[in-house]
Amino acid sequence: MIEKKFGIIGKPLSHSLSPILHNFWFQKYKISANYSLIEIELDEIEGVIKKIRNNELQGINVTVPYKQAVIPYLDLIIDDAKKTSSVNTINLNEEGKVVGNNTDVYGLQRGFTDKLNNQNLTQNKVLILGAGGVTPSVILALEKKGIKRISISNRTQKKAEDIKKKFPLIELVEWKNIESKSEEMDIIINATSLGLQGGNDFKQIFKNIKPSLIYYDIIYNPRETTMIKILKQKCAKTFNGLEMFIYQGQKSFFLWNKIKPDLDEELKLTIKKNLK
Ligand code: ATR
Repeated sequence: MIEKKFGIIGKPLSHSLSPILHNFWFQKYKISANYSLIEIELDEIEGVIKKIRNNELQGINVTVPYKQAVIPYLDLIIDDAKKTSSVNTINLNEEGKVVGNNTDVYGLQRGFTDKLNNQNLTQNKVLILGAGGVTPSVILALEKKGIKRISISNRTQKKAEDIKKKFPLIELVEWKNIESKSEEMDIIINATSLGLQGGNDFKQIFKNIKPSLIYYDIIYNPRETTMIKILKQKCAKTFNGLEMFIYQGQKSFFLWNKIKPDLDEELKLTIKKNLK
């Protein structure tokens, strides 16, 4: 039997647990396939997309920093990928077109926004930290939940301004002002890489917060960032990004294989074992 080939493109990729996730499911559903890390430079994107077109590769995920950069090489982008201009899943469709989709929004909905049941959600104030590849997906997932009062803040203000062009209703907060803004927020979301295992961390932890604050960290490695640990002590309700990661993978797997894989305990244990 011919083995199908899948993978993830990005740089750096050493932290990615996507191979663990997809290879677990390939084994479980007895699909002859392998999912690998494809660490590439920007100028190698075109070659990888060609492999999809030639059916040498049956599907790829895309991660930082290429979620936008892949778009010019695709034949079409659909659904949430179109709404966010951010692509994390690519495959060849039945008409031979290379299609870009986005499963991060679904991951955020299932892993986070579906769990929000605080009162008067539509009036809740949300602050998103970061304006990188995942931020447009965070905004769309919040908007799908009816949340409208969204602010974003990024160290490099220009990138936040670019996101505002696509989502004009969001407000911008200067990075130096996040500390003073934190106390009016109902929900704060970390969509930066601050707190990631082995990387930089926030210089300060929010001191003044609402006791009902919900803090969501896209990061899942470590499972508890310093910010989560400290805000938890202040009684904030906290979430990490592990479920989002698993659900975005579930939808990618479905798009490629037409099977909606189970999220069973064995899978969760396997993932947790592989977290450094
Ligand atoms: P990219 O922006 O290249 O797509 P990303 O991992 O999706 O990469 O995004 C990284 C995010 O973390 C960005 O919002 C980045 O801020 P800048 O746009 O100013 O670079 C943020 N980030 C990374 N290191 C940071 C730091 N030391 N302080 C503040 N923000 C940081």
